[in-house]
Amino acid sequence: MYLASDNWAGAHRSIAERLLRESDGFAAAYGASDLDRRVERRFAEIFERDVTVLFVGTGTAANSLSLASVQRPGGITFCHSEAHVIADECGAPDFFSGARLIGVPGLEGKIDPEKLKEKIAAFPQSAVQHGRATAVTITQATEAGTVYSLAEIGEIAAIARKDKLPLHMDGARFANALVSLGVSPAEMTWKRGIDMLSFGGTKNGCWCAEAIVFFNPERATEMPFIRKRAAQLFSKSRFIAAQFDAYFENDLWLDLARHANGMSDRLRSGITTSNASRLAWPTSANEVFAVIPKSAAKIAGEKGAKFYEWPVPPATPELVGQDETLIRLVTSFATSEADVDGFLGCLAG
Ligand SMILES: Cc1ncc(COP(=O)(O)O)c(C=O)c1O
Repeated sequence: MYLASDNWAGAHRSIAERLLRESDGFAAAYGASDLDRRVERRFAEIFERDVTVLFVGTGTAANSLSLASVQRPGGITFCHSEAHVIADECGAPDFFSGARLIGVPGLEGKIDPEKLKEKIAAFPQSAVQHGRATAVTITQATEAGTVYSLAEIGEIAAIARKDKLPLHMDGARFANALVSLGVSPAEMTWKRGIDMLSFGGTKNGCWCAEAIVFFNPERATEMPFIRKRAAQLFSKSRFIAAQFDAYFENDLWLDLARHANGMSDRLRSGITTSNASRLAWPTSANEVFAVIPKSAAKIAGEKGAKFYEWPVPPATPELVGQDETLIRLVTSFATSEADVDGFLGCLAG
């Protein structure tokens, strides 16, 4: 019953086998192989336009280097106050970009558009003492398991565009959000005003494959240098390309995300119908947040369930009663119905 994180899952067999097939022979290094090029073209097909793609090894690198590409001295990037970039990356985006991240509140992991306007207005381009607004980043699916609708992305994009701020999307769980909305990659990104994307593969079945995608190649001219200086240009980059090659083949990536989301749907419906537990808030991708009795959390832990107890969001302290705890459950391509039902059984006592 591994529900701690989609990072705990292994690599999907098709991806592991693709790596094995690639392991014989020689090919040009540092991203110059035929396979690298072919997979870059595949990204362009998937996003229905010319894109610049840079493979990197971690989501933190993808976020940090995307944001580094648009920074200027005194720059400020706005993100949700509980976003991975500000809370879980050890300051890497600030380190690589030289900019500061400033959190913007909002319910259920989504930036509140009005609060974003206020924050941007507080850091005008002339504010030498305070610093100046230089970028906005949103997470899709969010850290709270929710998914921005296309209209919500468009609204944030319009605010960013008004002040000429590039908009980045942290898509560590891009596929989960995509299948949850049932839209195309183009619709969820550049057609709604996203300028650059951290495209995650690792959580959804790859071993170690993340990509930075620029929707306007002219914005990416400095990126090869930014990536190399950050030690993220892999000499055997083709092994990242090989993972994406298998990931995209026959839409494997979408099937894996649908499976992960389906397992979360199963958790959601089991928790909704349980007597003692409840959903903390509605989620629609592969993360579930639930309020359960502390005793049930203890029993589940003793029976081998792996999950995290989660901090209660400051905006909603009343969410959790005295004998209760908030937990986060994450499903992946590797989660089975037996895992989910076993966990739900623990909640039943
Ligand atoms: C929303 C989000 N962004 C980015 C990442 C990337 O993290 P890493 O650098 O560990 O690959 C994660 C991983 O947990 C995440 O949840």
